[in-house]
Amino acid sequence: MSALEVSSMTVRFGGHQALSEVSLAVDQGKVVGLIGPNGAGKTTLFNAVCGVVTPTSGSVRLMGRDVSGIPTHKRARLGLGRTFQRLEVFASLSVADNVRAGIEIRRTWERRGSTARQYLASGEDLPTEAEVQVILDRLGLSELADVSVGALPTGQARLVELGRALGARPSVLLLDEPASGLDDNETADFGKLLIELAGAGLGILLVEHDVGLVMSVCEQIYVLDFGSVIASGDPDTVRSNEAVVAAYLGAGT
Ligand SMILES: Nc1ncnc2c1ncn2[C@@H]1O[C@H](COP(=O)(O)OP(=O)(O)O)[C@@H](O)[C@H]1O
Ligand SMILES: [Mg+2]
Repeated sequence: MSALEVSSMTVRFGGHQALSEVSLAVDQGKVVGLIGPNGAGKTTLFNAVCGVVTPTSGSVRLMGRDVSGIPTHKRARLGLGRTFQRLEVFASLSVADNVRAGIEIRRTWERRGSTARQYLASGEDLPTEAEVQVILDRLGLSELADVSVGALPTGQARLVELGRALGARPSVLLLDEPASGLDDNETADFGKLLIELAGAGLGILLVEHDVGLVMSVCEQIYVLDFGSVIASGDPDTVRSNEAVVAAYLGAGT
């Protein structure tokens, strides 16, 4: 059973078809890449998976359960987490409070409380403050715990957003360009973190323009162009696909 399964998803905005019959799957414990040019429909796919956008047709299954008809907040409660291309953080709150917010929201979801694992703490159930600390430590944000997020550079604010998402203990995490704004060292650390999270069982769908990062952390990659999947497979398969080179990668990647 895949953690996330999208089947034949089509999304139209008026006369514009943003997604055409897109199918993809993310298994537990895997980082799966979704790449393609600007405007290809990557963010629209995330929005449709979350239920923010209503698809014309197609279905979404989360841990085997069809969630196509249910509202966004219930999908979150069932274990769907995400971060946003245009960063969604509580800018006036501190770094620690942003992470705490994710945890506190989860604590009100009693239904998931007993089953969700903390992927950074081997499944242990920790008191809130200890869990905030585990997440901040792992994201390298401990020294910034009391800093207001609005004062941080974008790259670090993106990590805070990831921390908030992890606080909710998702089973599937959708990351929309999480490495934009990170420098090379930070990106390398971020890649290691993604592998560690997946190694603990989380299913991750990664949208990212840093092709080097995608190729190094993903076992499976889907390529979207004009709303359709034009190729999928392991990094070598995708890298050598002529349609992908023409549409997105260019020669010499
Ligand atoms: N809410 C919307 N209303 C109308 N068109 C939209 C909306 N959201 C996205 N689009 C269009 O759908 C296409 C795909 O956009 P998007 O999913 O943001 O692409 P990507 O994330 O791959 O860059 C673009 O042509 C974009 O302009
Ligand atoms: Mg986008």
